[in-house]
Amino acid sequence: MFPSLSLCVLALLLVSQQGSGIRWLALSTSNQHINKTQQCKMLPGLVSSQAQLCRTNLELMQTIVQAAREVKKTCQKTFADMRWNCSSIEAPKYLPDLERGTRESAFVYALSAAAISHTIARACTTGDLKLCTCGPIPGDTPEPGYRWGGCADNLHYGLLVGSKFSDAPMKMKKKSGSHANKLMHLHNSEVGRQVLKDALVMKCKCHGVSGSCSIRTCWRGLQDLKEIAMDLKAKYLSATKVVHRPMGTRKQLVPKDIDIRPVRENELVYLQSSPDFCTRNEKLGSVGTQERQCNKTSSGSDSCDLMCCGRGYNPYTEKVVERCHCKYHWCCYVTCKKCERTVERYVCK
Ligand SMILES: *[C@@H]1O[C@H](CO)[C@@H](O)[C@H](O)[C@H]1NC(C)=O
Ligand SMILES: *[C@@H]1O[C@H](CO)[C@@H](O)[C@H](O)[C@H]1NC(C)=O
Ligand SMILES: *[C@@H]1O[C@H](CO)[C@@H](O)[C@H](O)[C@H]1NC(C)=O
Repeated sequence: MFPSLSLCVLALLLVSQQGSGIRWLALSTSNQHINKTQQCKMLPGLVSSQAQLCRTNLELMQTIVQAAREVKKTCQKTFADMRWNCSSIEAPKYLPDLERGTRESAFVYALSAAAISHTIARACTTGDLKLCTCGPIPGDTPEPGYRWGGCADNLHYGLLVGSKFSDAPMKMKKKSGSHANKLMHLHNSEVGRQVLKDALVMKCKCHGVSGSCSIRTCWRGLQDLKEIAMDLKAKYLSATKVVHRPMGTRKQLVPKDIDIRPVRENELVYLQSSPDFCTRNEKLGSVGTQERQCNKTSSGSDSCDLMCCGRGYNPYTEKVVERCHCKYHWCCYVTCKKCERTVERYVCK
């Protein structure tokens, strides 16, 4: 036996097993309608207990597929102005990057946990899930002019069922992934769900003669996932590096530099520092910023200086079509012409 080969195989096995925590995101590529229990074992990325949940709650799977798509779309939109643009979700071969316990994996786990519960809670409201209904009507009486009505998002059910599914890989008895990584992923998933709980807000609809809004019907509804992702991005930027060390009788995650305090419930934590994502390094999950678009007038993370890591940038021109010369006609419509305009854009060298 060639020792280097067996080592290599071992390393591959370790990577693929550790990768199981959010492998269910691969469901975003599933285009079949899941309506037979036999399909559960063929679905990509599920650990055994998730496949079991699939068999006992088949109806839920379409909602989970939708959640996986939402995670991918929302992550990439939220990070479009950053060097790391959530490309790890796109290319399965970069998935191991998300298992190294970096700040980026902290964000993806938190967003995934929030998204799955968000999607389930909403599916209860829309009637896509028959096992649940609207959330409860709040016990407190609203202000005068307001009354409870409508259909609340069923956050309670979303959290219950969503966490059961998304935490399943980290709760497996089998030795897969390090204990420290599992603790990290569980913690960050919980942070995601906490942000989701804070996103349950009062939404109202106006009633009354010709829009007078003399009475409002209100319910508790969740903000859109992109708002939740923005909150999590702020937490990503201020995430705390932790180490795995004995605290009392068991090993726990504690802040690395200021280890006199326990980890806070509302902060994202990570174990491994990230690369700067400037250059291509497949092993570290970095695709580099070459050819990325940058903004010459911005002073933020999408500025050409920061995005291109000082390598400089190339201009190119692009034609954009816009509505112009708009005219208002009495009554009541607007007509516009189409104008073409040339804009200068920049990509990193
Ligand atoms: C399951 O879904 C497939 C594909 O959409 C459809 O052709 C089939 O009739 C469905 N079966 C049942 C039992 O609903
Ligand atoms: C992320 O950046 C890479 C490298 O520049 C690029 O190929 C990819 O299309 C980008 N992904 C998204 C979703 O913008
Ligand atoms: C570039 O950044 C400026 C300032 O933040 C912003 O107003 C502008 O819309 C951005 N341009 C593009 C093409 O994103």
